Amino acid sequence: MEKVLKAEHISRDFKIGDGSVVHALTDINLEVGKGELVCLRGRSGSGKTTLINILGALDRQDGGTVWFCGEDTAKLSDAGRDKMRRQKLSFVFQSVALISTMTALENVEFSLRLAGYPIAGRTKRAKECLTRVGLGKRMDHRPGELSGGEQQRVAIARAVAHKPEIIFADEPTAALDFSTGTAVLGLFRELVHDDGITVVMTTHDEAMMELADVVYSLEDGEIVDIKRNNIE
Ligand SMILES: Nc1ncnc2c1ncn2[C@@H]1O[C@H](COP(=O)(O)OP(=O)(O)O)[C@@H](O)[C@H]1O
Ligand SMILES: [Mg+2]
Repeated sequence: MEKVLKAEHISRDFKIGDGSVVHALTDINLEVGKGELVCLRGRSGSGKTTLINILGALDRQDGGTVWFCGEDTAKLSDAGRDKMRRQKLSFVFQSVALISTMTALENVEFSLRLAGYPIAGRTKRAKECLTRVGLGKRMDHRPGELSGGEQQRVAIARAVAHKPEIIFADEPTAALDFSTGTAVLGLFRELVHDDGITVVMTTHDEAMMELADVVYSLEDGEIVDIKRNNIE
């Protein structure tokens, strides 16, 4: 299987105020195949956010290599990283971070603009993605006029619209109740399956892990278990 992302011997240390060092990640090795949904699980403080930020080139590792589509991301210039992030990667965070003054449709169109998506196709594509996540009738609502689950679905529509290679999602369901969270996860699953988009997601919710192709368990910044599910 084609590997979209590969991490070899990743480490990340944080120096804190009193001069001591937190080893947030130690010797992390993982591979993500095209079209897979990969889950990083672990307790709070186990290193999930640190790892997903490094994989998504939002932060730099202290040691080791991240390969994205065969390219060493540390060797990219700042401009090259920016371009990669805008065009090939996508992020969904726990707090939704939509632009509050824009409607759902405008939020998705705006991110298409940032990604350099052709202007003529933006509105059509944005509507298609919002319909896909079940918000066809809510496109003209601003975030404040949508529920938490609906806002997270807008964030997912926005994340998929420009057809990224990978979506990174850091606890996308943490702020949602269980049934809304499961519905959001089901959408991720569908997108992975139908559109061949790859997803790397963190969670500490046990129920969510059954939807993943591969689950990496983190403890104190190390991978302690790898589990593969057989999902049709
Ligand atoms: N910017 C930072 N400065 C200092 N320590 C940090 C920083 N970011 C994370 N850490 C530490 O690294 C460890 C892993 O944190 P994090 O990746 O946020 O874990 P998780 O997302 O699994 O809760 C924790 O001990 C945390 O306190
Ligand atoms: Mg975290």
